[in-house]
Amino acid sequence: MKEKLEQIRAEAARALAAAESLQAVEDVRVQFLGRKGRITEVLRFLGQAPPEERPVLGQAANEVKAALAADLERRKAELEDREARKQAQSRRLDLSLPGRRPRRGHAHLVPRVAGQIVAIFSEMGFQVATGPDVETEYYNFDSLNTPADHPARDSHDTFFVKPGVVLRTHTSPVQMRVMEQMKPPVAIVAPGRVYRVDYDASHSPMFFQIEGLLVDRGVSFADLKGTLMFFVQRFFGPDTRLRFRPHFFPFTEPSAEVDISCAICSGVGCRLCKNSGWLEILGCGMVHPEVFRYAGYDAETYTGFAFGFGVDRIAMLKHAIPSISHLYENDLRFLEQF
Ligand code: PHE
Repeated sequence: MKEKLEQIRAEAARALAAAESLQAVEDVRVQFLGRKGRITEVLRFLGQAPPEERPVLGQAANEVKAALAADLERRKAELEDREARKQAQSRRLDLSLPGRRPRRGHAHLVPRVAGQIVAIFSEMGFQVATGPDVETEYYNFDSLNTPADHPARDSHDTFFVKPGVVLRTHTSPVQMRVMEQMKPPVAIVAPGRVYRVDYDASHSPMFFQIEGLLVDRGVSFADLKGTLMFFVQRFFGPDTRLRFRPHFFPFTEPSAEVDISCAICSGVGCRLCKNSGWLEILGCGMVHPEVFRYAGYDAETYTGFAFGFGVDRIAMLKHAIPSISHLYENDLRFLEQF
């Protein structure tokens, strides 16, 4: 029986050496160690051996069994290793290929344009001010000479948070907050988000504005014109022309809307400017005395101008973007162009 065990061991070793796949190794295991395997078979005959020999034989059988189990593991590891090498080789690393750079993000077009606009006004000495997006009706309307029954409120389709509290419909409330905090001279620009119930190709329920306010002794409409001229030529190019059209805002008097000569066709007429040669970019005017009264400023001593423009609109005009929704859909194919 001992010889028989030796013989089985030798056979198993040969079978293992010939096993070229994990499946073949598994077959060898079943063939020798399985429930109907060769070793099990031998052990079954153990009962027929003389009682004094049984312990020795039993031990021998167990040793062969353990040795075989170890051989199987070794062969399995060998084959796995070989398989891994083969796979690595078939993927063939080309170390001369240029590496893949991590994709880097960049600022979104709208805040970037806002930054460029603010930078130009900073050069002229304007400081940056901010106010809350959730604003009281008092700051958004009343203190800006727009009482509850004023028809101009209708032009701002307002999101109400609760009675007396709104999402600000423009950045103009920052004017009042600043004037409450400081005495003239005041020169600020206030960039920020604003909200209106409005949604089509040129309107988004959330968009960006930049407010400007300058108050001092002897400020005139000519100062407003000069300031806007400087900005527009800096931002859109030195040949850009300006046009003031009379308009109405409750918080400025006189008020105007300002057009620039079309950034695309320089005034000749194209699709962007609807063949008019002009693009509307902002609202502005001289601060209304009633607004000064709310701010606690003496309207006899001080005058000032204010303006407000849509950053989205400026960005769209500069880059000929057809729909404001592009700016907020987060399509990287669009955003990466800037
Ligand atoms: N707040 C006005 C608007 O949103 C723009 C504006 C600002 C007009 C300042 C005049 C002065 O339409």
